[in-house]
Amino acid sequence: MSSEEGPVVKVKKKRGEETLKKLKTNDMLDGRRVIEQKGDTLYIPVKEGGDENYRLKKRRIKPTPFERISNKIDLPKKMEEHLPDRWEKVGDVVLIKLPDSLYSKKELIGEVYAEVLNAKTVLIQKDIQGTKREPNVEVIYGEETETVHLENGIKFKLDLSKLMFSSGNIDERVRMAEVADEDEVIVDMFAGIGYFTLPLAVHSKPDKIYSLEINPVAYRYLKENVRSNRVEDIVEICLGDNRNFPKTYIADRIVMGYLHDTHRFLPKALELLKEKGVIHYHTRVADTEFPGKVEREISNNVDGGYEIMKIHKIKSYAPHVYHVVADIKVG
Ligand SMILES: C[S@@+](CC[C@H](N)C(=O)[O-])C[C@H]1O[C@@H](n2cnc3c(N)ncnc32)[C@H](O)[C@@H]1O
Repeated sequence: MSSEEGPVVKVKKKRGEETLKKLKTNDMLDGRRVIEQKGDTLYIPVKEGGDENYRLKKRRIKPTPFERISNKIDLPKKMEEHLPDRWEKVGDVVLIKLPDSLYSKKELIGEVYAEVLNAKTVLIQKDIQGTKREPNVEVIYGEETETVHLENGIKFKLDLSKLMFSSGNIDERVRMAEVADEDEVIVDMFAGIGYFTLPLAVHSKPDKIYSLEINPVAYRYLKENVRSNRVEDIVEICLGDNRNFPKTYIADRIVMGYLHDTHRFLPKALELLKEKGVIHYHTRVADTEFPGKVEREISNNVDGGYEIMKIHKIKSYAPHVYHVVADIKVG
């Protein structure tokens, strides 16, 4: 341990968890220094910016998890350079992307990542396939791939060898927790295990949410998550293709959390929305085409009066491609 000066942000303890998540998502957290607490105030080290009054205070340095991994792992220098310095931790399962050059050392790598990151299982994430968004993974440490991820007071249970969980969507899950009013009827057209259904149901407590899901495995976890988060009286789950859901004009709000030609589903969304309502339309767009392509996808598929209230980037999806969401007010 040594000492170093550096910027910190000062927050009340009750806002600590939320602030930490935001800093992590935006890659602003300085993991080399420790968080300190005085009374009910936390001093969180950040890479830059921070609170002017506190930036010159001495903060202790501790090795980052990646430095601990590098120190622990016994690999030739050339190989060590390719070790992944990013991962996703969902519940107590870690997912990494492993370059081919390290594949022969996968067991050793799995063991060290599990130990340092305190995980029961480590998976190599290869890709995510098809409309049901099924991941292709390989277990390199441990056995169990089912886990419970706790976030914003919600329990998300899932099996990471069969289903995906995008940590990068945390801001959108937190936003969804607050968007709806108590008297609303909502349709979540691509519910998955409840990525958006659960924050909406647990925190906004609307009148009703219809959660539509085509994948039987995701449907099974959605059902269990609705029960364990005690929102069975709000959420009604439907297994099947959302395009077969009857034309009902029941919804005040529709969530379209899907990124693969989502515009093809806009006509169905309009058959489910009341005369006036809001659609949260997710899509992918290249940096150079933002926001024009999103606006065109909407104008080509929504007739009549609508207003795009906001379009914002959720996360980077691929180099120069973003996952974005548009809030569309229809009617
Ligand atoms: C995995 S989620 C997308 C990720 C999610 N937005 C997040 O925040 O992580 C998309 C879900 O939509 C489901 N899906 C795809 N096409 C569908 C359809 N036509 N009807 C109902 N569900 C569908 C998939 O099975 C999948 O579970």
